[in-house]
Amino acid sequence: MQDRDPLATSTISPLQNLWEREYESTDTPFDIEEPDEWIATLAKSRRIRGQVLDAGCGPGRNSIYLAETGCNVLGVDISTKAISRAQRNAAEKSSRAQFLQANLCEISGYEDRFDSVVDIGCFHSLDQCDRAAYAAALHRVCREGAVIFLRAFRWNHPSGSSADALTAEDIRSAFSNNGWSERELVEREIELRISPTEKPRTSCWFAEMHYQPLPVEIDPQRVPKCRS
Ligand SMILES: C[S@@+](CC[C@H](N)C(=O)[O-])C[C@H]1O[C@@H](n2cnc3c(N)ncnc32)[C@H](O)[C@@H]1O
Repeated sequence: MQDRDPLATSTISPLQNLWEREYESTDTPFDIEEPDEWIATLAKSRRIRGQVLDAGCGPGRNSIYLAETGCNVLGVDISTKAISRAQRNAAEKSSRAQFLQANLCEISGYEDRFDSVVDIGCFHSLDQCDRAAYAAALHRVCREGAVIFLRAFRWNHPSGSSADALTAEDIRSAFSNNGWSERELVEREIELRISPTEKPRTSCWFAEMHYQPLPVEIDPQRVPKCRS
């Protein structure tokens, strides 16, 4: 008889379920020691500073690296498995990085906390419904003066078609309506590490967005509720 799938009857959201399944595999391509190259460059030039939120931290490579550079880092991920791996990876390196399991689209209790947000690969995995809620939630947890550095795949898969492409407008509309002003939004190719030997090139958006206060009269219903 087959073992029952523990996720099949659980009450976790479909989004969390999807990521828990991703982390069932032991060869997750981003469960590596090296930080993302862009994040390392930004950190070396001190552009990532202060209280840092690593949004969609996965197994924690960027959180651990940023903590080593002197930042106070909270890595947040929707997947309990990713957070367990991040905590284990951090403990192995005696890292000061902290981790929290939460859905960033709904995060609460961290208002006005962060100076910098890094997002490597989280935003692009959200569907259109969640993107505005995500940008609004990041605004709530950030302080005035905060900055977001976000890297998102243009296609979820290197062989993707234009039908599932993430456009500059997708990024702009999510963030500009929710208290973020665009400093830079450019498209560049990167080498995508699928495995040590499989490294196709793929196109990514690199965005830098700065916090701007929301007008007080803003309608709190502006963020569409896509699901009940
Ligand atoms: C492609 S992985 C990138 C991991 C990490 N940033 C890195 O560079 O190694 C994207 C991560 O975003 C997380 N994620 C996706 N949607 C999320 C959400 N709504 N809230 C929190 N984490 C989310 C996933 O669980 C996954 O670990």
